Amino acid sequence: MTWFTAALGSSVGKKFMMALTGLAFIGFLAAHLAGNLLMIAGREAFNGYAEKLQSLGPILQVFRAGLIGFALVHVLTGLYLFLQNRKARPLRYETDASAGGRTISSRTMPYTGLAILAFLIFHLFHFTWTDKGAQTIFDLAAAAFNQPWVILLYASAMIVVALHVRHGFWSAIQSVGANHPKTMPAVTALSWAAGGIVAFGFGLLPFFMLIRY
Ligand code: HEM
Repeated sequence: MTWFTAALGSSVGKKFMMALTGLAFIGFLAAHLAGNLLMIAGREAFNGYAEKLQSLGPILQVFRAGLIGFALVHVLTGLYLFLQNRKARPLRYETDASAGGRTISSRTMPYTGLAILAFLIFHLFHFTWTDKGAQTIFDLAAAAFNQPWVILLYASAMIVVALHVRHGFWSAIQSVGANHPKTMPAVTALSWAAGGIVAFGFGLLPFFMLIRY
């Protein structure tokens, strides 16, 4: 297996792992958003979905363990690449944004990544690692999104997630080698769509809950 560990240890291998784990998270986000949008359908629909998820038992635990493993690989590899880049290039240089990739999202990837990690820890304490008492998960969300500071925090966090997803998707496609000049306009359009769906889908949900419940 030495060729395998050597490949993963190379910087191309690390970019590849970032890409695979990042794309897996985008898959998770798509499923999470689809589930969360059931809040619009109301209490019964959302609670029914949450109960069905819980009833998966061991499958859910395996899925959660996988997510944690992917998160560790993604965050630690990302931090390593960031620190390596800084060591290799202490002076920033100008690049042409139109040549591809140098945008606000690309320049801020390490910072938006760390902000998402902070949001995620808050989010898990908020909804998952909390004593729900007699409340259903829908009631918990409705109560949470009745507070302006929570809405503001979630809406701002979703802008950060959208920026990270937009560049992350674009960059992941390059890293897995699917960057043919013919397909790149479609990849760029898809990356904007992914960012937009995250920003509007997740970002507007707290406002919907405030207005409706
Ligand atoms: C408006 C935005 C969001 C809402 C309303 C929301 C809602 C929820 C709720 C209600 C749960 C708990 C489900 C349960 O315990 O039954 C949950 C779990 C979770 N959320 Fe979110 N979420 C949002 C955005 C995000 C984002 C952007 C991420 C990732 C960056 C994320 C990652 C997670 C994770 C990892 C879990 C734990 C899943 C598990 O282990 O079962 N969420 N979310």
